[in-house]
Amino acid sequence: MKRPLAILLTTLAFAAGAAELPQVEIYKSPYCGCCAEWAKHMADNGFRVKSIDVEDVPAARARLGMPERYGSCHTARIGNYVVEGHVPAEDIKRLLKEQPKAVGLAAPGMPAGSPGMESARKQPYDVLLVDRKGKARVFAKH
Ligand code: CU
Ligand code: CU
Repeated sequence: MKRPLAILLTTLAFAAGAAELPQVEIYKSPYCGCCAEWAKHMADNGFRVKSIDVEDVPAARARLGMPERYGSCHTARIGNYVVEGHVPAEDIKRLLKEQPKAVGLAAPGMPAGSPGMESARKQPYDVLLVDRKGKARVFAKH
């Protein structure tokens, strides 16, 4: 096996994959640590992250078009989508690949064990796909 070639190809594939990922613009409270932890989770998964501290997260959420009832502690703009709360990066990559007609994804509340909410006691939670009428269906179960 020609190892240098394999390494080169792997590097190129990785670079191409990373280049396709849009920037994550996260609107978060400066007083909340788990938002920063989720931002780190996204960066660890190859996203470029821009963090914007806001005093009023619900106002930012409303501006992006995510209904209040799916709210969590932070909201983010990723490409043409809104991602609310502690949604795993794998779900966001799937969203970007499948490109459904939707506002985006939401993990309402603060489920223990979700990315940025690491905990020994894990709580099962659903990631919802929220449509433009504000209706939601389960996108992924964790
Ligand atoms: Cu949180
Ligand atoms: Cu937070």
